[in-house]
Amino acid sequence: MYKNYIKFILIMDYNNQYGKEVIKMLLPSLEKARSRTKKEVLIKTNDYIIKENLKEIGLNKKYFIKTYGCQMNEHDSENIKAILEDMSFEYTDNMEDADLILLNTCAIRENAHNKVFGYLGRIKHLKETKPNIIVGLCGCMAQEEIVIKEILDKYDWLDIVFGTHNIHELPNILEKTILNKKLEVDVLSIEGDIVENIPVKRDSKYKAWVNIMYGCDKFCTYCIVPYTRGKQRSRLPQFIIEEVKELVKNGYKEVTLLGQNVNAYGKDLDINYNMSNLLQDVANTGIERIRFVTSHPWDFTNEMIDVIKNNVNIMPYIHLPLQSGSNNILKLMGRRYTKESYLKLFDKLKKEIPNVSITTDIIVGFPNETEQDFLETLDVVNTCKFDSAFTFIFSPREGTPAAKMKDDITLEEKNKRLYQLNELINKYALENNKKYLNKKVKVLLEGISEKNEDMLMGYTDTMKLVNVKSPKSNIGKIVEVKITDVKTWSMDGIIEK
Ligand code: SAH
Ligand code: SF4
Ligand code: F3S
Repeated sequence: MYKNYIKFILIMDYNNQYGKEVIKMLLPSLEKARSRTKKEVLIKTNDYIIKENLKEIGLNKKYFIKTYGCQMNEHDSENIKAILEDMSFEYTDNMEDADLILLNTCAIRENAHNKVFGYLGRIKHLKETKPNIIVGLCGCMAQEEIVIKEILDKYDWLDIVFGTHNIHELPNILEKTILNKKLEVDVLSIEGDIVENIPVKRDSKYKAWVNIMYGCDKFCTYCIVPYTRGKQRSRLPQFIIEEVKELVKNGYKEVTLLGQNVNAYGKDLDINYNMSNLLQDVANTGIERIRFVTSHPWDFTNEMIDVIKNNVNIMPYIHLPLQSGSNNILKLMGRRYTKESYLKLFDKLKKEIPNVSITTDIIVGFPNETEQDFLETLDVVNTCKFDSAFTFIFSPREGTPAAKMKDDITLEEKNKRLYQLNELINKYALENNKKYLNKKVKVLLEGISEKNEDMLMGYTDTMKLVNVKSPKSNIGKIVEVKITDVKTWSMDGIIEK
């Protein structure tokens, strides 16, 4: 069964305070994770199997899961929750109450790592008082060699480690650790297949994540994702459409189609079907709102733009990562577009899609980013006046080409650039929001507002967060809201009678 997997089995004497004696491991390999072969992607429609004897293994036991990282990880956690509930575990949002604690981790930047290791420190204290709890780490960090090394060196009290490719095997992995009382490390560094029958327990009753593709083949020089998530694999359209139809039937109002490069959807399939075809077919299901993330500026076709503007249920909102405004840096990043081609696409989107809002991601302090390079990034921000942006300081990720690049920019300088960039981003975010004052917008009310218990919160078509004075009975409805106040990151509104 494991013939394609890089497989190291280490059997060693191992004693620790929890009486684990043997470790058996499938360890990740960055070398292996980097490879891209012509191996066919297998669509597995019955690989998630739960054995009879595991269906009640979690009876009267509770699980707690903490999720870091992107929407894909959020959605993976929804799968993990459903799998655990298939095993009769019950959800708790209080870690202290849990018999099973899982951290679904993100590897994108160093601070994501630090947060997880910090949190593990807290869990260790808990485990000292409750030695029988099972503690596991999964997600993108589990796919990294250095993380596994650190776990084996310093966090050997963990019970399970599994990666992004074998979530569907969680029941068997758990069984092994429960029976054997040993640390189970099961991480596969493979290009990846698609398992179609993993169950899902969605966090929301109104909006849903739908994976349309997995992995990434772009290999931007700074990015760890192609190593942690495997090669680009598009789901077959019929599975996606089926899933969306089911969501419509169950009263869902919104779907977000997920992928690292959604515009490249379908390129790995041999059925002559692309992202514009998929968007059209998803629009035809009649679901009220469709979003999609993330669009790489590469591969954004005119057909896609036409489909977006011709279907009222495809939201006028595009997340279009820029990363840098300097052609030198874009080249070093391996982004495959120039400042000029980005601006051209940006203009086209603004012109063609009425009222579109566009957000972005920007990295400052990439190795050798000069003051001039940085000023070019500010220049693009001044031209595009983004609705908002996620901004980051470059973080070297072991195994990626950029981590080996010489870097002579001080952290102080990088912090200064980030601050300066954020000031500008905030200025335009507020400026854009001000255009909404006194206007009427449609908002899908999702739940109680975090800032005020008497208000509800939701998002506009254009992905603006709005806090609304409204009775709770409106939760789950798309309502017309009049904007009464705007801030940098949110707005307030009322429902007029
Ligand atoms: N697939 C998306 C991005 C996914 S990662 C795309 O290509 O646009 C989300 C964001 O994290 C990236 O857009 C980038 O801005 C940031 N990021 C990724 N790797 C990083 C690193 N090593 N250091 C700092 N930021 C990084
Ligand atoms: Fe990372 Fe680039 Fe792939 Fe986005 S496109 S996930 S930044 S490698
Ligand atoms: Fe993080 Fe993995 Fe997503 S590295 S950003 S959780 S794909």
